Amino acid sequence: MTHQLPLIILNELDYSYPNGTVALRKINLNIYRGELVGIMGMNGAGKTTLIRTLNGLIRPSKGTVNIESENIEPKGIGELSKIVGLIFQNPQHQIFSNTVEEEIEFSLKSLNLNKEEVRDKTVEVLKTFNLEKYQDRSPLNLSGGESKKLAIASIICRDPKILVFDEPTLGQDGKEISFFTNLLKEEREKGKTILIVTHNIEFAMEFIPRTILMANGKIIADGPTKKILTNQYLVEKSSLVLPQTRQFALKLRDIGIECPDDIFSKVEMKDFLANYLKTKITEA
Ligand SMILES: Nc1ncnc2c1ncn2[C@@H]1O[C@H](COP(=O)(O)OP(=O)(O)OP(=O)(O)O)[C@@H](O)[C@H]1O
Ligand SMILES: [Mg+2]
Repeated sequence: MTHQLPLIILNELDYSYPNGTVALRKINLNIYRGELVGIMGMNGAGKTTLIRTLNGLIRPSKGTVNIESENIEPKGIGELSKIVGLIFQNPQHQIFSNTVEEEIEFSLKSLNLNKEEVRDKTVEVLKTFNLEKYQDRSPLNLSGGESKKLAIASIICRDPKILVFDEPTLGQDGKEISFFTNLLKEEREKGKTILIVTHNIEFAMEFIPRTILMANGKIIADGPTKKILTNQYLVEKSSLVLPQTRQFALKLRDIGIECPDDIFSKVEMKDFLANYLKTKITEA
């Protein structure tokens, strides 16, 4: 990774909305090929604005966005969206076809495929995403979770190198979250670079290696998720809460059980407690 050029380079990005709201301030960020990166921070921090600069939906007021060593400024959204697949926070903002099937077909049509290939691929995508039973239904008549899934399917089917998700786990039940984490695993195995905006701390702790924390249009921290999300100062500054295992570890310390700092998962906590109890029993 160290000898490789970053896939995405954001250089001194500023952005203000037309009404004057300053949403991004001097953003500098490098993302490497194959990384899975989380973007976190309180409401209004600038997360959605930041990811929208990656496919040209938002053009920075100052600074540059480079993807694969090229400044994206002269490129149109159509061209960029073949490289950067952005899945919106609210799926209703990206879905506009009359049926679920047409939505996938429409998404595939801008690629260089013939009619038959579009047909076959649509069937395959609907099956992979368990959406066949809804294929003739209007996307407006899907549940929130289902339409989120359709929005994800309609972007993933185009096979972009870079996938950017805005709040993918919001409103998803346990089964859908595990469908999503499986999908992430598969896409990473294909070498995709993935960015995920999320407020879901437990999800980030478990699945996302690197986290960028934003506040007030700036990046205030960037590093290993486990380090960032267990840092009480950063967590409070971002209106987040500490991960459950961390809270539990601090409670254990309150009652005199010295729980080490490097316990992050439930399994690690269970092992620590089992060991601790064993030594107590032996001592007794
Ligand atoms: N279309 C818009 N016009 C004017 N200001 C906007 C617009 N969209 C967002 N903003 C403002 O820009 C700032 C950054 O908003 P953004 O949507 O990027 O935040 P966010 O981190 O994605 O928040 P959330 O967690 O609530 O989704 C906020 O102050 C917001 O009010
Ligand atoms: Mg947002």
